Amino acid sequence: MRVLFLLFLFGLSTAFAPVVSKAADPASGRQAYERYCISCHGADGRGVVANAPDFARGQGLMAPDVTIAQTLRSGKGGMPSFLGILSNTELLDVVAYLRTLQR
Ligand code: HEC
Repeated sequence: MRVLFLLFLFGLSTAFAPVVSKAADPASGRQAYERYCISCHGADGRGVVANAPDFARGQGLMAPDVTIAQTLRSGKGGMPSFLGILSNTELLDVVAYLRTLQR
């Protein structure tokens, strides 16, 4: 009986697997960061251009992921908009990577 129940649960989880969104992936976010962000924010996230926040100190990272992604879509100050350049998934991946820069 218990085995049947486990099989049932397993069937459920695989049936819904494609629907459940996967967690943001900091590894692919890193690739996007190195391509689009590193020139202004630096490899360690401490910032190389004027006014850039220091990600290592958590600056600019206080907001929830979706809010930061929205800022990246619209652009801010000296930072261009990434609308049409990075997809929503890529934006959330890159935000996940930003959080790994915090020391
Ligand atoms: C041309 C230089 C430049 C590039 C490229 C750039 N940024 Fe920025 N970024 C800035 C500057 C300057 C600020 C500060 C903006 C302000 O507060 O006026 C900033 C701010 C931010 C913030 C803080 C936003 C906030 O609400 O305070 C985040 C997060 C961020 N950048 C992430 C990224 C990511 C991720 C990328 C790559 C996809 C990127 N930036 C590319 C220059 C850049």
